[in-house]
Amino acid sequence: MIGDLAGYVAASFRRGIPYVQVPTTFLAQIDSAIGGKVGIDLPCGKNLVGAFYQPKLVFSDVACLSTLPVRQVRNGLSEAIKYGIIDDAPLFAFIEKHHKALLKADVKKMTELVERCSRIKAKIVAADEKETKGIRSFLNFGHTLGHAIEAAGGYDRFQHGEAIALGMRMAAEISVRSKLLSASQAERINHLIRRIAGNGR
Ligand SMILES: NC(=O)c1ccc[n+]([C@@H]2O[C@H](COP(=O)([O-])OP(=O)(O)OC[C@H]3O[C@@H](n4cnc5c(N)ncnc54)[C@H](O)[C@@H]3O)[C@@H](O)[C@H]2O)c1
Ligand SMILES: [Zn+2]
Repeated sequence: MIGDLAGYVAASFRRGIPYVQVPTTFLAQIDSAIGGKVGIDLPCGKNLVGAFYQPKLVFSDVACLSTLPVRQVRNGLSEAIKYGIIDDAPLFAFIEKHHKALLKADVKKMTELVERCSRIKAKIVAADEKETKGIRSFLNFGHTLGHAIEAAGGYDRFQHGEAIALGMRMAAEISVRSKLLSASQAERINHLIRRIAGNGR
């Protein structure tokens, strides 16, 4: 949240000043600090005021992650699963294999995820910085419905990753009905998300 807000202020103040992202949550390190999308939510919708504005540097110190509450770790893992689904099947399998250690914020495993996910995000953003070529929109997997869930919860009931987890499950279900995904693939996605999200969500 701080990164989006500070980035948007940096984009607007004096029509743009240089800024650096120093993300301290798992989600911010693997996702929101990278790619230059900065913005804020309005009561009527997600990210309705914002800009594309690249930071000069993204500095992720994984030592920060050791103090995160488990809910925040789960939150970030949703986006990590997203990268596995859209771009990197071995990454998905890595999360399946190590989800227990990841939920305990195992520093070595989280460091590997931060590195692998950051590379995927940077690669996709470099190919389609302003989301005009149909490539960056892969990153929105689960987000159309997820953003609606966030808004319906008043941006308070669900954390971003929690809403996205539900959105990805719904997107998988729609894909099955559209015959774009097999039922077993959708179940594999559902199964991992349930294990990550906890409480059967
Ligand atoms: N710009 C983008 O491309 C992009 C991508 C994904 C998500 N987002 C946005 O990011 C926001 C969610 O960000 P978030 O998940 O980082 O949550 P957040 O910024 O709301 O932080 C969650 C909580 O964690 C605390 N915290 C931060 N670092 C900590 C640390 N090291 N130890 C202990 N506590 C710490 C914060 O004080 C806060 O209470 C959503 O608004 C979402 O829309 C933006
Ligand atoms: Zn997201």
